[in-house]
Amino acid sequence: MIVQLKPANLSFREMQLSDLDAVIQIEMVNFPFPWTVGNFTDSINSGYTCLVLEMAANVIGYAVLMMALDEAHLLNVSVAPSQKGKGFGRYLLYHMMQISREKGGLNMFLEVRPSNISAITLYESIGFNEMGVRPGYYPAQKGRENAILMGVAL
Ligand SMILES: CC(C)(COP(=O)(O)OP(=O)(O)OC[C@H]1O[C@@H](n2cnc3c(N)ncnc32)[C@H](O)[C@@H]1OP(=O)(O)O)[C@@H](O)C(=O)NCCC(=O)NCCS
Repeated sequence: MIVQLKPANLSFREMQLSDLDAVIQIEMVNFPFPWTVGNFTDSINSGYTCLVLEMAANVIGYAVLMMALDEAHLLNVSVAPSQKGKGFGRYLLYHMMQISREKGGLNMFLEVRPSNISAITLYESIGFNEMGVRPGYYPAQKGRENAILMGVAL
């Protein structure tokens, strides 16, 4: 496992309902079909691991993880537009993988749009492989878009 340097003013904490304004602002810019406040609230209330990454008390990223026995399913990962390309996405991913291991996860899975090249490049660089395709998984401007299912051993 590659360990990254952790800047002093960078920290993870559990997502609170009071974070959702900041989270939704990022979500709306980052995704063509963003999660709603309700989606995040449901995830928090369902006991999923919902974390925000803070830098100097500002939310700069977040992730949502669902565990099912030894399978970790990463439902959302996102970095604020102004903070992309600085290594925070990779840092978030490694952190969620470590948490998954601590919860007994043996494999991590996620879905990604085939058009999301930056995310796919990140996942592949960490060791994720394509496991299959979920036809029509995502809403799209015209109809539906497939998802690539990717997975990595933890
Ligand atoms: C995908 C995302 C989380 C990556 O976060 P990030 O902080 O920008 O990524 P990092 O700076 O940690 O980059 C890690 C790696 O990702 C890849 N990557 C990041 N941006 C890229 C880009 N624009 N093009 C190609 N590869 C890219 C590279 O492999 C990079 O490694 P390198 O810097 O050694 O080349 C971020 O772009 C994001 O929030 N996107 C919108 C939300 C989203 O699509 N989430 C994933 C849903 S499945």
